[in-house]
Amino acid sequence: MSKYAVVYWSGTGNTEKMAFAVAEGIRAKGAEVGIFHAAEFNPSQTGDYAGIAFGCPSMGAEELEADEFEPVYRAAMPQLSGKPVALFGSYGWGDGEWMRNWQEEVEQASCNLIAEGLIANNEPDEDALAACRALGEKLAG
Ligand SMILES: Cc1cc2nc3c(=O)[nH]c(=O)nc-3n(C[C@H](O)[C@H](O)[C@H](O)COP(=O)(O)O)c2cc1C
Repeated sequence: MSKYAVVYWSGTGNTEKMAFAVAEGIRAKGAEVGIFHAAEFNPSQTGDYAGIAFGCPSMGAEELEADEFEPVYRAAMPQLSGKPVALFGSYGWGDGEWMRNWQEEVEQASCNLIAEGLIANNEPDEDALAACRALGEKLAG
């Protein structure tokens, strides 16, 4: 059975809710899923997974969370050549700039970005959670 990982960072739980919904979508496709807070994911495990969904809110000034998420994401990325990758995260007062920048970076990497980065304003509502489940299904599909 294919195994996928959802690797996320979340300060106040919004991106975490998205992460659980993405994982639900992966499971709905009959695949196995490991869900990890970035602080708990060892990038040397990356090769164990058929693909990864990364989740991180907009932090700093339209940036990824720098202490726990970014180092793990940067260590994992080179090991994802040719593999499906999805991006998601929550934001507050901005317009999604962090995700546009993040997506642009990943588009230039050797992985296969399967969809546009999925964003939710603050706490994800039912529509956003449904979109997260669909993203998980697409990743594992
Ligand atoms: C230190 C800090 C910096 C932030 N910077 C931004 C930002 O640049 N743009 C934005 O839209 N939201 C920003 N936010 C708001 C968060 O992205 C928003 O609250 C999000 O829902 C947090 O997700 P989480 O619950 O997964 O931590 C910031 C929040 C914090 C605490």
